[in-house]
Amino acid sequence: MKKILITGGAGFIGSCFVRQTLQKHPDYQVINLDALTYAGNLETLADIEKNPNYRFVKGDIGDKNLVDKLFAAGLDYVVNFAAESHVDRSISGPEIFVQTNILGTQNLLEAARKYWLPLLNVAETTVPRYLQVSTDEVYGSLGLAGYFTEETPLQPNSPYSASKAGADLLTRAYFHTFGLPLLTTRCSNNYGPYQFPEKLIPLMINNALTDQPLPVYGDGRNVRDWLHVSDHCEALDIVLHQGVPGEVYNIGGHNEKENIYLVKLILRELKKPETLIKYVQDRPGHDRRYAIDAGKMAKCFGWQPRRVFEQGIKETIQWYLENQKWVASVKSGDYQKYYERQYGK
Ligand code: NAD
Ligand code: TYD
Repeated sequence: MKKILITGGAGFIGSCFVRQTLQKHPDYQVINLDALTYAGNLETLADIEKNPNYRFVKGDIGDKNLVDKLFAAGLDYVVNFAAESHVDRSISGPEIFVQTNILGTQNLLEAARKYWLPLLNVAETTVPRYLQVSTDEVYGSLGLAGYFTEETPLQPNSPYSASKAGADLLTRAYFHTFGLPLLTTRCSNNYGPYQFPEKLIPLMINNALTDQPLPVYGDGRNVRDWLHVSDHCEALDIVLHQGVPGEVYNIGGHNEKENIYLVKLILRELKKPETLIKYVQDRPGHDRRYAIDAGKMAKCFGWQPRRVFEQGIKETIQWYLENQKWVASVKSGDYQKYYERQYGK
């Protein structure tokens, strides 16, 4: 059996990838390493936790001993999702972003250097592979026209995107310096089930459902390129297995929407009035527009998103309606305190 370490597998995208991997590769043993921060929740994986090919390990990607032990036991694949992922939190407290996203990634890369380097020139050994899951936000902000390609210079504007760019650059450097089999993907904004309700779409759905104001930053005309989480995960599986080490692959939906369009769509779907919309102070350094050119994924692998946004967003809204218990569970505790700091009581 092949062994795959998935870090951050109790989060939004990582959990989708864990589920997809167990389904798509029944001959893989999946290890999910997750620190269970406020954003990680094992209830998200309740449906697969008894799968004999799945094992959960609670721990930090920055924990040297633990990561060493996992690599020492032999790994064929590593996919690193573990991260602090929310821009607003990176503005109120950047340090943990540097710690997890940069130092944590470096710890994984060091373990790969220690355990994988000796394997590289051994005949008849299957070379393992590491995939760094990154974001289009490392490219900075676009004006009205143009797209991010893999050649766009990195110009991160928030502590979150700067820390992700730092991790990308370390991944690049460990490939160039040590020749390790490392790959990087940069994806646009994801939507779908199990997204933590501090991010735009689930936050707006939940506020609308409970008749709370919908806080729209600035003029609401910032643009994001939305991709269904399962399309992202399918693309990651392809890059992990077929990508060329050292390469970067952009993943996106060619599906640009202004925030205010999404907010109004959610209100319409839930039959709630637009009077719930509340324009609030803009996010400092708020990137205006993200848009991915995913031409390389199409050219190299024939990859295209499969989900149609109009259908996917309806299903996502329906999922949140039917899974209020999950929402209540992840919103308890730490998240509630964060919400009050960010938006007041
Ligand atoms: P998330 O915040 O929902 O999940 C992050 C997971 O990582 C959580 O389960 C958390 O417990 C875990 N974690 C945090 N710190 C850890 C640590 N030190 N050690 C081990 N586990 C830790 O995030 P997400 O939206 O699922 O994003 C996953 C990855 O994809 C991130 O690297 C993010 O930068 C990237 N990404 C996200 C998007 C998006 O739209 N959400 C888009 C592109 C790329
Ligand atoms: P978010 O989901 O935080 O993702 P990112 O900033 O990483 O793209 O935000 C998506 C967009 O929605 C972004 O332009 C900021 C905006 N936004 C709001 O207008 N109000 C909110 O309460 C949140 C969380 C986001």
